[in-house]
Amino acid sequence: MEIVVFGAGSLGSLLGGLLEREHDVTLVGRDQHVRAIDERGLRISGTIEATVRPAARFAPPEAADLAIVCVKSFDTAAAATALADCDLDACLSVQNGMGNERILADQLDAPVLAGTCSYGAFRPSPGEVRCTGVGEVALGPRTGGSSALADRVGAAFERAGIVTSVDEDMPARLWEKLAVNAGINATTALARIDNGSVLDGDAWSIASAAARETAAVARLEGIDLPDSAAERAVRTVAEATAENTSSMQQDVLADRRTEIDAINGFVVDRAGERGVEVPVNGTLTRLIRTWEIGRGVR
Ligand code: PAF
Repeated sequence: MEIVVFGAGSLGSLLGGLLEREHDVTLVGRDQHVRAIDERGLRISGTIEATVRPAARFAPPEAADLAIVCVKSFDTAAAATALADCDLDACLSVQNGMGNERILADQLDAPVLAGTCSYGAFRPSPGEVRCTGVGEVALGPRTGGSSALADRVGAAFERAGIVTSVDEDMPARLWEKLAVNAGINATTALARIDNGSVLDGDAWSIASAAARETAAVARLEGIDLPDSAAERAVRTVAEATAENTSSMQQDVLADRRTEIDAINGFVVDRAGERGVEVPVNGTLTRLIRTWEIGRGVR
């Protein structure tokens, strides 16, 4: 398969690098990382060790069988614009936050699949990505159900040795992932703690409340996500990624804009539309937005 990965950050580089073992991959990214891959290839270190040679560019090629979008949620519209001229058979979003698939589907001719990924990834230096834990990619039609396309993309991932499940209920998976991110990301970013430290004490009361509020909004949207399942999902991911620094904390530490709008902010917006209160998500959202404004990154 010809695959373009749009967004060669940590996760995009890891997925693209792993896929290159079996497919023809083009990584689209920025500056030094693209130059380093072009010169020396991409080194995958950590739980998985490999050096691969995907193409690395600053813009998408003219055509590909599949585009995998891995950019931050606030860059999804720009990704859709950049990919609009690329002749694609399919697009798969593997991003944090909600609403990405719809933005892509509105601009692209190709069908858009939804995906989640629990592999841990971190980019220590240009040209290198570290795999901090083997997880799973779940993917499927963005509105649920099955499709031959999702099966084909799932099989392509598996051929490259990526643990993959083709899921018939991606809307529920996305809400569950949202509950995980709503619980872990802002809490760890504000308290400067690793993911495992949300598992008890005051941090757990904040993270679990944010997840329960997310589940309550999900149920109003017709998604079967009990509070207990949302809390369990936060616990499972926090345990599996205990030593990791969440992506939002990495953004805060690097003085970058965060994905707060597509995570806790999304929960606040949806709750507001339905007239329900989500005070913990509201407070987390306002605190992170205040930090972004103070640092001039919003
Ligand atoms: O955004 C992140 O950091 C990740 O989605 C997760 C699952 C919270 C693990 O760090």
